[in-house]
Amino acid sequence: MNPNAEDRTQQFLEHLDDGHMVEADDWMPDAYRAELVRLIRLHAVSEIMGTLPEKEWVPRAPTLYRKLALMAKVQDEAGHGQLLIRVAEDLMAPRGQNREHIMEDLFAGRQKFHNVFHLPVPTWADAGLIGWLVDGAAIITQGMLLGGSYAPYTRALRRIVEEEAFHIQHGESICMALAEGTAGQRAMFQDALTRWWPALMTFFGPPEDGTARSAAPGAAHTSHQAANLRFRIRTKSNEELRQRYLSKYVPRIRSLGFVIPDPTLKQDPTTKVWTYQPPDWEQWRAIITNHGPRSAARVNLRHTSYAEGQWVRDVMSATRKAV
Ligand SMILES: [Fe+2]
Ligand SMILES: [Fe+2]
Repeated sequence: MNPNAEDRTQQFLEHLDDGHMVEADDWMPDAYRAELVRLIRLHAVSEIMGTLPEKEWVPRAPTLYRKLALMAKVQDEAGHGQLLIRVAEDLMAPRGQNREHIMEDLFAGRQKFHNVFHLPVPTWADAGLIGWLVDGAAIITQGMLLGGSYAPYTRALRRIVEEEAFHIQHGESICMALAEGTAGQRAMFQDALTRWWPALMTFFGPPEDGTARSAAPGAAHTSHQAANLRFRIRTKSNEELRQRYLSKYVPRIRSLGFVIPDPTLKQDPTTKVWTYQPPDWEQWRAIITNHGPRSAARVNLRHTSYAEGQWVRDVMSATRKAV
């Protein structure tokens, strides 16, 4: 980095420390832009791929009311992906990249998406659990990101978080109906919880690496988490979010009489810190690099849909050129 760029980056960091926001056409260090692109692309593609597990239950929803609500949720998630891809595109434009690059990277296995969307959803309880406990985790992350420094992302998040609150209510309503239902329905929810718990524990990512936190953003040894904290793209560590999630949901799940499959899970009554069985981070890495049970099928389905929609994109771009 030349001395001028170093000074400018220092001024930028001071600007962030004073609580200022950054707009798309403001100057920003390359490392800041790169972290934003990485995060927002991951978020956008996760929203899009997140439509696929639940869409499997739209034709099989048990009532018309549930079907309508689930369809609305799936539609919302696609809309979230659309909003976020626009935010990412603005940041990628100086490098001549757009949404086509994001989708090509997804199909080629270069673009990750969230671990929970690589998993199967064999029962109706899975659909309810995703709404209640997966969207519940997502809103904890997204609520934290609302305090971030990049204004276009926070504006998109404001709308997304509003809609996520509806998804959680719908998912919770499905889970409560199962919890108050027959022994078979309760067993179905318990089975889903047992299968999903390890994925929920990895939802927020590995704990903070304390040694990297003070490193300069952009340095080769800086973790993305540490750089994002320094750039105020995020305001809490993965572990802080996981602790918040456990405090919110463990008492509620247990109050319904369900068993969380971790006998070591407990909260220190004084410090309020949860201890838990450390998740299998190697398995998590394998899943997010497209080695999960439904990774290939979902990426292929998205690829097929994308190819089938090519004529729409062709018509739209021809219309734009003609105007
Ligand atoms: Fe969403
Ligand atoms: Fe959602």
